[in-house]
Amino acid sequence: MKHKLFYVSMLSILMAGFSASFNTATAQQTQLPAPQKGSIKTSLMNALQNRHSVRSYKSKTISNQTLSNLLWAANGVNRKDGRRTAPSAINAQDIELYIGKSDGTYHYIASENKLEKVNNESFINMVVGKNRFALDAPIVILLVSNGANFHGHNPNFYGAMDAGYVSQNICLYCAADGLGTVPCAPKMDAAAIQKFLGVSTDYIPMIYHPVGYVEE
Ligand SMILES: Cc1cc2nc3c(=O)[nH]c(=O)nc-3n(C[C@H](O)[C@H](O)[C@H](O)COP(=O)(O)O)c2cc1C
Repeated sequence: MKHKLFYVSMLSILMAGFSASFNTATAQQTQLPAPQKGSIKTSLMNALQNRHSVRSYKSKTISNQTLSNLLWAANGVNRKDGRRTAPSAINAQDIELYIGKSDGTYHYIASENKLEKVNNESFINMVVGKNRFALDAPIVILLVSNGANFHGHNPNFYGAMDAGYVSQNICLYCAADGLGTVPCAPKMDAAAIQKFLGVSTDYIPMIYHPVGYVEE
């Protein structure tokens, strides 16, 4: 009996240790450099002129500085009250950004300008569908709407609208900074993505953007 208790206790300690190290790996956070708001010299009109869908990318890495700029432009905090660069229906602030890179999937925490690792793999294979070109992009941004924030207002409608504003911000930042992107909205397996990201069924995957430097 004493032996049995000993083995059960040892097993519990080992499992707790394993679970703790797993949690540490998945909760890893990266502080991004502050977004550089005056670094791009082109005009809004030029960015609009240059915006077009790009489906071929250089393998060149995107630096954390450029990623910080891009995510801030997409849906970063631009006011003291925490509101964002993109508008949001009934101020639901429902859009969450997940970044797929070669070493994993990261959640953008806009209020702290941080990336939090949520999975050691990229989500790209789950969303790519027929858009095989997206596999060559150094990063992919997935826009997910937290429908619970709409408190009964139609989450599919408002969530899609809110995602559209963030998507256009991504398009314009890319056009202004020599990056290429295209909004991609194939049929996605929401349940599988929710499980992969560790979020509830309220979170609706809306659209994703492969992003990379434009091939000349
Ligand atoms: C909501 C939405 C979904 C889209 N989904 C895809 C897609 O899955 N794959 C793709 O290659 N392009 C996709 N596109 C890009 C369009 O095909 C593209 O915007 C259109 O052909 C016009 O070309 P332009 O962006 O160069 O002006 C999507 C665009 C939008 C707005």
